[in-house]
This record gives sequence, C-alpha cells and structure tokens, in this order.
Amino acid sequence: MDLCEQSPSYVRAIAPYQPGKPISELAREMGLKEKKIIKLASNENPLGVSPKAKSAIKKAIAELGRYPDGNAFDLRVALAKRYGVPEECIVVGNGSNDLLEMAAAVFLGPGRSAVYSQHCFAVYPLATQSRGARSIVVPAKNYGHDLEAMAAAIAPDTRVVFIANPNNPTGTFVPGGELEAFIARVPRETAVVVDEAYTEYLPRELRYDSVGWLAKHPNFILTRTFSKVYGLAGLRVGFGFMQPAVADLLNRVRQPFNVNSLALAAATAALGDRKFVAKSTQMNRTGLVRLVRALRTLGLETIPSCANFVTFRVLHAKAVYEKLLRQGVIVRPLAGYEMPDHLRVTVGTPGENERFLKALETALD
Ligand SMILES: Cc1ncc(COP(=O)(O)O)c(C=O)c1O
Repeated sequence: MDLCEQSPSYVRAIAPYQPGKPISELAREMGLKEKKIIKLASNENPLGVSPKAKSAIKKAIAELGRYPDGNAFDLRVALAKRYGVPEECIVVGNGSNDLLEMAAAVFLGPGRSAVYSQHCFAVYPLATQSRGARSIVVPAKNYGHDLEAMAAAIAPDTRVVFIANPNNPTGTFVPGGELEAFIARVPRETAVVVDEAYTEYLPRELRYDSVGWLAKHPNFILTRTFSKVYGLAGLRVGFGFMQPAVADLLNRVRQPFNVNSLALAAATAALGDRKFVAKSTQMNRTGLVRLVRALRTLGLETIPSCANFVTFRVLHAKAVYEKLLRQGVIVRPLAGYEMPDHLRVTVGTPGENERFLKALETALD
C-alpha cells in the first residue's frame, strides 16, 4: 500500500473546490492581455478595496515583520461596537470559509451528520466530508432552501445544519422570520450555521436582525465576511457570532494566527467605510436590475437573486461559458452544483455588465 492509500477513504473521496477561473490563468491560456479580461465569476466587489482599507493596509505594511495579533483585538472590538455583540461571542477567520471549517471541526466527525440543501455553497459538503461525517442533502425547492424538508431531515446524529442566506450559487433568500422559526425547531444539540456572506446586499425591506437571535438560540452560529461588499476577498477575513462557550470551542481549533496583519487592519478600517459600502450596494442594485432585464430580453430564465450575482439557465451552458472565455469574459459554470444548464454571473461595474451582455449575445448567436 502506498502513502496516499493511508489517507481515510472519506478524504480521498472529496471532489476539490473549483474556484472561478483567475484572470492570469485565462490570459496565459488564451494569449489575452490581462487588462482586456473581466472576471464576473467569484462574486467579488467590482469596486475593489475601500479607500479607508487601502490606507490602513499601507500603514500596516511597516509591521509585517511581526506576527499578527492572534486575538484580533482591534477588529473584535470594532465588530462588538458595530453590532452590539460582546467580544467573547466573536471569532475571526481566514475568510468566513475558515469559520465554516472550524464549526465542522468542532461538531462533526465519523458517526455524525450535517444537513444542507441541494445547490448549497460548495464548502458545506467539503467541510463535512473532510471530517468523515455523513452528508444529508435536502432537495431544493425552487432552487432555494426547503426549510420544512430540512427540519424533517435532521437525524439523531446531526450536529450541524448549514444554510446560506442569500444562497450561493442560486441567490435565493429565506425571509428572516421563517429562518428564525426554523432555528427554534432544531434540537439544541445541533448547531445551525447561518452563512450571511451576502447579507449587506439585501434590499432594506428584506433585512432581518439575525444578530438579535444570538441571545435566544444557544445553538445558532452566524458567519459573515469581508470578501464581498467590503472588497477584501484577496486578504481573507471573515467573522462569526455565537455563544461564548461555542466561541471558546472554535478558538481551540482555530490556527493561532489565522488572520494576517494586513487583513486585520484592512477589515477594521473597512467596517467604518460606510460610504464605500453604500456606493457598492447601490451600484449592485442598479447592475442586478440591468442584468436580469437584459438576460430575460435574451429569452433566458433567471433565478430571482437577492445577492451580487444572478444565475440564469442557458442551452449548452458549457459551450456558452467557453465562448465567453474566448472573448475575455469569465463567468461561473455550475455543473458542480447539480446545475449543468445554468451559469452564474457576478454583477460588475456598469461597463463590465455591458461587456458581458454583448459577449453573451455573441456567444448565443
Ligand atoms: C455563501 C458563501 N459563504 C461563504 C463564502 C466564503 O467567503 P470567504 O471565505 O471569502 O469569506 C462564500 C464565497 O463565495 C459564499 O458564497
């Protein structure tokens, strides 16, 4: 037997995460200039890094010779103040992805299961499988979460339920009241991880106070990120709110210096850059309306989205994806999400949206 065969079979069975194609890779493959390529494949903020975060990063460079603050003191204080959550309830992560992994490490393992939906964010199956836990995948309803079916699917050995709201890659949304009613039904020995990576993009009338649920539901874990509206995807920083006892467990499995110094400084500054967040969400709203309208005019069915992307159904999705690549436009194919006839496009700047639409028209010809 060779070394690789010594790895647990559940690790060897994992299908690796497929990220959006990087601009540099497409440039190499197609001989295109990087500047001519637009990437609308990973739901990043098309405005890039907020000005306040940029200047904080510049300042923090001077201290890069030192380890970061392993307790993320400044960022946790800023988050505590902003959300009215005690500091001991806050755990920071190398992206919110890190928090999802920590929750899995703490609560899952062989002989345990996690419940999540069909078409869910790809990290939930990865985090579950890598712990040797069983996946209970609940069929989606209209591409979104079927909370009734999810509640019914919870088994005696279920220790984590993962829900993204809005969901990626479908953009679907569960109203706050329904989500809280669901959490209240879940047995207390099962953690409900609500992943709100896109929450800042919700229109005002759909917003809900999930932070306020912490005091009521001891098994509730809320995760958020600086990768989307805050424009810091490349630095990797996210955070989670939970009961102090749960935070204590996550901190035991957390790598000692999981969030780097530049990320800590940038995130703390970005949190205070409300102007940038408002500009980003406003641009997203206009862009989303424009994309949805134009896709429908092209005769394509779109899934109603509450996030910074829209998923649409198109004949020969793989071929269309490749035709877009040849024109220097990167979107996301969704075959890995059991949606082989769909593509997902991130809302870009107005110019990027128009370029995508023009390229799509050409690809559909
Ligand atoms: C639903 C959802 N959760 C979590 C993440 C992870 O983001 P990050 O690790 O950059 O915070 C993403 C990224 O695309 C996402 O779509």
